[in-house]
Amino acid sequence: MPKTLNIALIGSKFMGRTHSNAYLNVAKFFDVPITPVMHTIAARDAEDLATFAPRWGWLKFTTRWKDVCEDENVGLVDVGTPNHVHAEQSIAALEAGKHVACEKPLAGTLDDARQMLAAAKAARKSKTFVWYNYRRVPAVAFAHQLVKEGKLGRIYHVRAAYLQDWGGPDTPLLWRFKGKQAGSGAHGDLNAHIIDMARFITGDEITEVVGSIEETFIKKREIIESAGGEIAGKGAKKTGKKRYGRSTVDDAVMFLARFKRGAVASFEASRLATGDKNANRIEVHGEKGAIKFNFERMNELEWYDNTVPDKMQGWSTINVTRGDGTANGHPYVGNWWPASHLVGYEHGFINQAADMLNVIAGKKPVVPICDFADAYQTQKVLHAAIESARNRCPVKLSEIK
Ligand SMILES: NC(=O)c1ccc[n+]([C@@H]2O[C@H](COP(=O)([O-])OP(=O)(O)OC[C@H]3O[C@@H](n4cnc5c(N)ncnc54)[C@H](O)[C@@H]3O)[C@@H](O)[C@H]2O)c1
Repeated sequence: MPKTLNIALIGSKFMGRTHSNAYLNVAKFFDVPITPVMHTIAARDAEDLATFAPRWGWLKFTTRWKDVCEDENVGLVDVGTPNHVHAEQSIAALEAGKHVACEKPLAGTLDDARQMLAAAKAARKSKTFVWYNYRRVPAVAFAHQLVKEGKLGRIYHVRAAYLQDWGGPDTPLLWRFKGKQAGSGAHGDLNAHIIDMARFITGDEITEVVGSIEETFIKKREIIESAGGEIAGKGAKKTGKKRYGRSTVDDAVMFLARFKRGAVASFEASRLATGDKNANRIEVHGEKGAIKFNFERMNELEWYDNTVPDKMQGWSTINVTRGDGTANGHPYVGNWWPASHLVGYEHGFINQAADMLNVIAGKKPVVPICDFADAYQTQKVLHAAIESARNRCPVKLSEIK
């Protein structure tokens, strides 16, 4: 009989759906060493949970998240809630001896992240994971492998931008615009992903951040209450007359950085990049070759081989869908469909669920997993960029503990 692992997920909205979908499907597509059991879903809205739980295959639901930490049958607690509660929920689960998977960014603040790291170190038997899901998009995992194999040689440049445009003046004051809940705006939301991708693809660490700038274009946003009392998204039923509150986060942050092995990098995140919906892009230029990735064409990786004769050189587009389940194929795709039968957003999460189960069983993930210690490095870069923007000075990562 294969081993089982009872999973509890906190959060039932956007990430609640992606993670539920991952646990539902992972054992169908991957020969996982441990079968996940969708034990309990926790969130705040009981009425919503009563529909969500049976629809997504959860055995139980609760509006008291502490229940899942107190339940000795639960083996892994998955934290898919707003950033300000990541620390409290993750630390409680770690102290109760659970494995913990937490959404990104690790936390809203460096202080919270530091406490989470300490709790992870103290919980020696627990594995920790952070849902930097883009690592497990096959084209991104393949880019990581190309750099590791030395195909790009010495890295000179990293150019990363994560651009969205949903944050215009009509978007209400969601938790994502409140500093106390989100920590930051586009920065922790989007730069977090591209910092993680840059570190993951290059296998290198950022040592210095310089020339950072942050801006809040839309200072006030409408307050809209949903039936469940939560701030709801666009189109939610409005009750009473219009009320406005201050946005206390950035809408855009840009900064420059230096890597340990000498590469220089630029990062840009915005929620007001008109026309770009989910343009998560990264370019890496090396001595022997270069790559370009854009999530809006997520099955492709652009590749330039600088080692072939000059007259043969040019950008080529690799369709990252060839997988026979061995090292000859592209990572993860051997578990999915035949060549050119494309994968989507949800596959990165399912691939991550497979690797989490492998790591818990003591097996190797396809590409390195992001645990709390790894995500803490990204958190330090996020923090350094804000320090740099506010103090108008370069910030060395070694100065941040
Ligand atoms: N990996 C990614 O690409 C990605 C994408 C979107 C969001 N995220 C991250 O996922 C997390 C959640 O974002 P979301 O978009 O799903 O948010 P959301 O607002 O859609 O959902 C939040 C959920 O958390 C629940 N919740 C809120 N406060 C709670 C509390 N104190 N106790 C218990 N439950 C609580 C809500 O009831 C809701 O179910 C954030 O950290 C966000 O940064 C990651």
